[in-house]
Amino acid sequence: MITIIGSGKVGGDAALFSALKKLDDQILLLDVAKGLPQGEAMDINHMLSEQGIDVEVTGSNDYEDIRGSNIVVVVAGSARKPGMTRMDLLKINASIVKSVTENIKKYADDSMIIPVSNPLDPMAYITQKVSGFDRSRVFGMGGMLDLSRFRQFIHESTGHSRDSIRGLVIGEHGENMLPLPRFSSVSGIPLSSFLPKAKLDEIVQNTKQVAAKVIELKGATVHAPGNAISAIVETVVRDRKQVIPVATYLDGEYGHSDVTIGVPAVIGKNGVEKIIELDLNDEERQMFDKGVANVKDAISGIEI
Ligand code: 2OP
Repeated sequence: MITIIGSGKVGGDAALFSALKKLDDQILLLDVAKGLPQGEAMDINHMLSEQGIDVEVTGSNDYEDIRGSNIVVVVAGSARKPGMTRMDLLKINASIVKSVTENIKKYADDSMIIPVSNPLDPMAYITQKVSGFDRSRVFGMGGMLDLSRFRQFIHESTGHSRDSIRGLVIGEHGENMLPLPRFSSVSGIPLSSFLPKAKLDEIVQNTKQVAAKVIELKGATVHAPGNAISAIVETVVRDRKQVIPVATYLDGEYGHSDVTIGVPAVIGKNGVEKIIELDLNDEERQMFDKGVANVKDAISGIEI
């Protein structure tokens, strides 16, 4: 069973995409708001019925129902509003994520947890600490979403098929996000063969800022995060061993310990099966380290 805790728009979309991809026979939406997960589940089931897809989506307000979950996605918490940074949500969401994680530990201690609530990296750290799970079983979704935006900008700038574009975005899912043109390509051919440095710099900046733009325009980011969640879940469920950026706990990798931040990792049926250490240049390393410092600063102010 795949459980999604938090059934607002992103949670609902994550359930919808996971059901369409048939990632499990059973998907549970859980929320504190009475009626919301139940209504969302009904709406999705009605759609699945027309499509002839036998995935059952259920809604619940009771943590006992998460028993038997293989994967638990945590979207619960306040979302970013226009003008807010992800870090502005720190205090509000820390206590929510803490109590959600305590319940996961109580009722689904064999599961893997995918934190999504913002600020993502500190929330993934809290999840890791409170659950006490092996670090391979806690990996936050942030870089995958940033990557989908980076790929879109590369697509817009080169005109090449989205399908042929590969890339990486690591570091903090926040102000110090690190899109990596040097590790990105169109069908394996380095991006620098297609775009001049000035354009690449522009794409990097746009990737960092575009979520705020979407929030300003429509009030929230919904489909891209909902889809990115289902993409990570798919990699686990189908044991695809894709190399994707996830927020995971570092224990010496990239020269850092006791912090959770986005790095490329092999994701398969065992969760984080390997962290890949890239040979970053000075400029990239500086941005990565700045992100680490920012996340460490945030988590140092939280009582866990
Ligand atoms: C996003 O990047 C707000 O973190 C959220 O869409």
